[in-house]
Amino acid sequence: MSKMILANLKMYQCTKEEVNNYINKLKGVKNKFIVFPSVIYLEKFIQNNFICGVQNASAHDPGPYTSEISVHALKNIGAKYILLGHSEVRQNMSEDDELINAKIKQALNNKLKVILCIGENLEAYNQSQTKNILKNQILKALKNITEEIIISYEPIWAIGTGKTPTNNEIEDIVSYIKSLFDYDVKVLYGGSVSEQNINQLNLVPNVDGFLIGKAATTPGSLIKIIEVAEK
Ligand code: 13P
Repeated sequence: MSKMILANLKMYQCTKEEVNNYINKLKGVKNKFIVFPSVIYLEKFIQNNFICGVQNASAHDPGPYTSEISVHALKNIGAKYILLGHSEVRQNMSEDDELINAKIKQALNNKLKVILCIGENLEAYNQSQTKNILKNQILKALKNITEEIIISYEPIWAIGTGKTPTNNEIEDIVSYIKSLFDYDVKVLYGGSVSEQNINQLNLVPNVDGFLIGKAATTPGSLIKIIEVAEK
C-alpha cells in the first residue's frame, strides 16, 4: 500500500494568487495527498476536489465562542481530517494535553479522522527521554478514547531545521509507538521532509507516511515526494 502524504501548509500561503497557482499545479496529483490549507481557503480546495483536512478547530459544540471555528462547520463544508496536538499549536497557542483530548473527542464525534501530532524537544532527545515523552503525550491526549486515530511523530527539533533523526531512530520510535496501541495504528513521520531526503526516509520500513510542512508549499517538491513515497 502506498504511503499517506499530508501537506501541512501552515500559514505560508496568504494570497488568492498563491492558492490558485498551487491548486493548478497540483491538480494532477490531488488524489494522492491530503492538504491542510489555511482555513480561509479550505472551501476553494474542496471545490477543486482536493482531499482536505484542517490544522485545528474548537473543542466546543457550536455556540458562544467568539473567533473559534467549530468542527461541525468544517465537517459540513467537506473537511475529512484534522491535525491536533501540533507542536506549533501546543507552543504558540498554549494548548495542553487536556484541551487536545477534548478536541480529539469533538473531532471524532463529528466523524473527522484525527492525526495526533507528538514529538520531543531537543533537550529530551539529548537526554534519551523521547519514548517517555511520547508515551505521556499519547496517554493524556487519548484518555477515555477508544476510536482509531493516526499518529504523526514530529520531533520538535526536526521541524523547519533541515535536521532529521536517522532512519534507525525513526524505525525504533515508530515501532515503539505502534506497541502502545491494541490496533494497527498508522504512524507518520514529520520534520524537515524534503525532495532531498525523501529517498532515504522512504526506506524506513514501518512508517506509514509523511507529514510535510515547508517542502509541501512548493508544488514541484511535493510532486517529487509523492512520486518517491508511492514506490
Ligand atoms: P517542516 O516540514 O517545515 O519541517 O514542518 C513539519 C511539520 O511541522 C509538519 O506538520
